Amino acid sequence: MMLEVKDLVIRFHDRIGGEAVHGVSFTMDAGERLGIVGESGAGKTLTALAITRLLKDVTEINGNITFQGQDMLSAGEKEMRDIRGKDIGFIFQDPVASLNPLMPVGPQIEEPLKLHTDLSKEERRERVLQAIRDVDLPDPEVTIQKYPHQLSGGQCQRVMIASALICHPALLIADEPTTALDVTVQTQILRLLKRKNQDENVGILYISHDLSLVRRLCSRVIVMYNGNIVETGSVEQVFNHPWEEYTRRLIAAIPTRNKRYV
Ligand SMILES: Nc1ncnc2c1ncn2[C@@H]1O[C@H](COP(=O)(O)OP(=O)(O)OP(=O)(O)O)[C@@H](O)[C@H]1O
Ligand SMILES: [Mg+2]
Repeated sequence: MMLEVKDLVIRFHDRIGGEAVHGVSFTMDAGERLGIVGESGAGKTLTALAITRLLKDVTEINGNITFQGQDMLSAGEKEMRDIRGKDIGFIFQDPVASLNPLMPVGPQIEEPLKLHTDLSKEERRERVLQAIRDVDLPDPEVTIQKYPHQLSGGQCQRVMIASALICHPALLIADEPTTALDVTVQTQILRLLKRKNQDENVGILYISHDLSLVRRLCSRVIVMYNGNIVETGSVEQVFNHPWEEYTRRLIAAIPTRNKRYV
């Protein structure tokens, strides 16, 4: 087992009732593609951020999170910095906002290599160019010099993916990675994630409010509602034979034709 989240409780002092996540437990195997779905406010992002301890303004996190045998909630900040970007890659919902607008994308993709490896400048450059090719961005030599505003949203998301995967992490957490993208680009990104999963055995925790996207990528899915897990199972089971009324409504809400969320 690569990741185990047990009885995760997240509390904020400024929130009515305090608690936002009420005892979430799940596990994930190495190389698995696991989805978390649920409507806005379900606690998906909080759960993902807790794994990498990137939560801000949190009063209290309780429970256990074990990643590759390491207790994440008691690990020191230095250990966490070693894990983030190296063993766990993270991609966020808004690719443009997640990149530094003042820095060309090449150095941004390279950053984790600088932090986590002893590779020489030339070796890093080779890895960056290869990473750019891997995510199907055009003209690597030219692309590395571009600034985020000179790229499309889909290209920025590819840059994020390249950077998140450049140290070959065991786990990639992707929080709504295609929400801001149009349907065609969405499909390309899903395909890219699947290929990376198959080629490099990187486990993917894919978070979305859109069950149809999760169905295309993942083998197993967790359904969250209001800070709890309401249902979990194989994608086929949950999709075709949902146990819970909430999951049924979530499936019913999927548009029959692809639709873009803004
Ligand atoms: N810093 C905070 N302070 C207080 N409450 C917060 C904070 N961050 C999140 N919450 C609350 O925790 C709940 C879960 O938030 P979370 O961001 O995990 O939802 P989500 O499932 O990712 O939703 P979305 O689909 O909109 O991204 C929400 O009700 C939110 O208002
Ligand atoms: Mg979220």
